[in-house]
Amino acid sequence: MQPHPILLLACSCNQHARRCRFNSELFRLSGGRSGGVCERCRHHTAGRHCHYCQPGFWRDPSQPISSRKACRACKCHPIGATGGTCNQTSGQCTCKLGVTGLTCNRCGPGYQQSRSPRMPCQRES
Ligand SMILES: *[C@@H]1O[C@H](CO)[C@@H](O)[C@H](O)[C@H]1NC(C)=O
Repeated sequence: MQPHPILLLACSCNQHARRCRFNSELFRLSGGRSGGVCERCRHHTAGRHCHYCQPGFWRDPSQPISSRKACRACKCHPIGATGGTCNQTSGQCTCKLGVTGLTCNRCGPGYQQSRSPRMPCQRES
């Protein structure tokens, strides 16, 4: 394989990885435009060009993708949310019934807090 300037360009990792490997199949599929796959994306990024966020993190739109702070932790509430992952673009965690808020940390309208971890917010009687 001949070294070629295009390989350097194809290695764009948004400043989250120092190295990429060359994948000849991807190079062929892209019509000879790019074949770089970033290795060990840092700052909670993922993907071929470290261009999106790992599960459990979401893309902060106020930061450029090249920023170390481009991906923010979801911080889903351990009781109010159904899990630790959130919407990659909005940061919204998946809330249990009656629970609301970005991190599922409070009860929605018509619901009040209960002592049950399975149903932390119950309909007001
Ligand atoms: C994530 O949030 C965006 C913006 O609110 C919405 O358009 C999209 O449908 C959501 N994605 C999922 C998988 O829920």
